Amino acid sequence: MRYLFLSLKGGVGKTSLAINLATYLGIKCVTTDLIISEKSNVAQIAPNKKRIPLQYTAKKDIVFDFGAMSTNIDPKVAHAVKLSNAIIIPTLTDARSLQGTIDTLNLVKEAGKPTIIVINNFTSESKFNNAKNHLIETLGQLTILGIRRTTLFERVAKDGSEWFSNVHHNKGEYQLNKSRKTHEQVYDSIVALGAKK
Ligand SMILES: Nc1ncnc2c1ncn2[C@@H]1O[C@H](COP(=O)(O)OP(=O)(O)OP(=O)(O)O)[C@@H](O)[C@H]1O
Ligand SMILES: [Mg+2]
Repeated sequence: MRYLFLSLKGGVGKTSLAINLATYLGIKCVTTDLIISEKSNVAQIAPNKKRIPLQYTAKKDIVFDFGAMSTNIDPKVAHAVKLSNAIIIPTLTDARSLQGTIDTLNLVKEAGKPTIIVINNFTSESKFNNAKNHLIETLGQLTILGIRRTTLFERVAKDGSEWFSNVHHNKGEYQLNKSRKTHEQVYDSIVALGAKK
């Protein structure tokens, strides 16, 4: 399946989540972001590219991460919206991010694709709940998942996806293993929603 990570807002966790979902599923992630560590399943394309290169549109299983957009959708993102089985909009809990999320959702609504909001990088249950309630009041019922603030992304960037798949439930890694499980539940929900006809 094809997944698109999207937001008008920068720095909300698109790249972190996109790469980890791709790693979890064993598929490729195409990003316009700078990639710091070498990962065999991540390919970089120039942000100003108007089209998604053919070698990627041809793939049935892929994750797209085309960065923060301005106020409208560029042609490459529009193409990705059409191709994708699910659109994932990560958001932080502050007012500007939530507004960016609402605007993003309104931009892609017309396409009628399953859309999921991931409230990301939150530090307390009350921040999560406030953000969730605000989104539901504004947008109506929709799928909202959550990923807490975690050191997991940093570790994956530093130690690679190999490390990620081998986090063990041993000394000192209990907390990381717990977050990994939570993340995997989020990825499973995304996959389930994308698979719905
Ligand atoms: N759940 C989280 N816990 C801790 N740090 C996080 C979390 N999610 C994202 N971050 C950190 O926040 C920063 C921004 O994340 P990321 O680069 O994934 O966002 P982005 O939406 O791709 O940004 P851009 O719009 O610039 O491409 C990164 O340093 C990342 O490591
Ligand atoms: Mg990014």
